[in-house]
Amino acid sequence: MIALGIETSCDETAAAVLKNGKEVLSSCVSSSIHMHRKFGGIVPEIASRFHLEYITPVTKKALKKAGLKLSDIDLICVTHTPGLMGSLLVGVSFAKALSFGLNKPVLGINHIKAHLFAPFLEKGNFKFPFIGLVASGGHSSLAQVLDFDKIKIIGRTRDDAAGEAYDKVAKMLGLPYPGGPAIDKLAQSISASPFRFKCARFKDSFDFSFSGIKTNVLYTWEKVTTRNKKTKAQIAHAFQKEVVKSLTVQSIAACKKFNIKILSVGGGVACNSYLRQCLAEAGKKEKIKVMIAAPELCLDNAAMIAALGTHLYKKGERSDYTLTAASST
Ligand code: KG4
Ligand code: ZN
Repeated sequence: MIALGIETSCDETAAAVLKNGKEVLSSCVSSSIHMHRKFGGIVPEIASRFHLEYITPVTKKALKKAGLKLSDIDLICVTHTPGLMGSLLVGVSFAKALSFGLNKPVLGINHIKAHLFAPFLEKGNFKFPFIGLVASGGHSSLAQVLDFDKIKIIGRTRDDAAGEAYDKVAKMLGLPYPGGPAIDKLAQSISASPFRFKCARFKDSFDFSFSGIKTNVLYTWEKVTTRNKKTKAQIAHAFQKEVVKSLTVQSIAACKKFNIKILSVGGGVACNSYLRQCLAEAGKKEKIKVMIAAPELCLDNAAMIAALGTHLYKKGERSDYTLTAASST
C-alpha cells in the first residue's frame, strides 16, 4: 500500500510517501520558520498563507523523490488535529480534493499520536506495548500505547509545553526563535552552573508543568547584575538540566509503573542533545529500550502521519468528506 502523508498543522508544510506503513520512500518539509523569526513566535496568518503556496510543490517533490505518480497512491493521510486552524484547513482541504480527484480514500490523523510512532520508522518495526513521550512546541504528553488505535494518555502538561518553555526562556535571554536549539547549544557550552531551577511535580500523577520554571528564570534574569554570555549560558544550563530531568524522571517512572520496557520519544524537544543523553543513560540503567528518532523525524513531518494513517486504515478506520480541522482534541 502506498500512502501519501500531508502535514500542515503549524509552520512546516510537509508531504511524504510511505510503502506498507513503514518504508519511507520520501519525506519533504518546507518550513516558514524564517518568516516568523522576527516576530519571536509563529504568526498563524503567515503560516497558513505559506502552506497555501507550498503544499502543491512539496507534494510534487515528495512524489518525484519516491519515483511515483499521483495515480500510484492508494491512501491519503492528513493531519486534521491539533494545530493552528488556518494551517490545518489548508492540508485537510488539499487532501480531500486529492482524494476526490483520484477517487482514493482520505484519513484524518491526530498529529500528537503520530509523533509517538516516528521513532519506529527508522527500522520499520513497530513493537507494542510502549510508553510514548511527546515533547514539542505545543504539547507535552505521556501515553501508554498498546496498539495503533489503543493509545491512553497518562500524563500531560498542566500549563506550558516543554518546547514552549524553551522558546519563552530563549526570548527572555535574547536568543533567536525557535529557542530550543539555541538554549541547547548554549547550555552544552558549559559543564556546571551556580543557578538552580525547579519544575513542579505532582503526587501520583504523570503530569508536567513548565510554566513555573519559566517565571523563575524571568525573575532570576531580572535580578542578575552582569548580563553577559556567561550568565546566559549558566541560566540556559540550569534551565535545561531541570526540564530534561522532569521529562526523563516522569517517562521512566511511567515505564516502571506499567512494567513496559520500550520508551518512544518524539516531538521537537526530542532533538535536544542533553535529553537524548539522559534518556539513553536512564534506559540503560533501568533496562528500558529508549527509541528516539533522527532529528528530521522528531520534528514535524508527514512520514509519521502516513505511517499511523496506513495502520489505522488497515484496522478499518475511515474518514469521509465531512472531515474537517480541529484546533484542539
Ligand atoms: O514538534 P515540533 O517541530 O512542532 C510542534 O508540534 O510544536 O517542535 C518544535 C519545538 C519548538 O518549541 C523548539 O524550540 C523545540 O521543538 N526544539 C527543541 C530543540 N529543537 C527543537 N527544544 C529543545 N532542544 C532542541 N534541540
Ligand atoms: Zn509536532
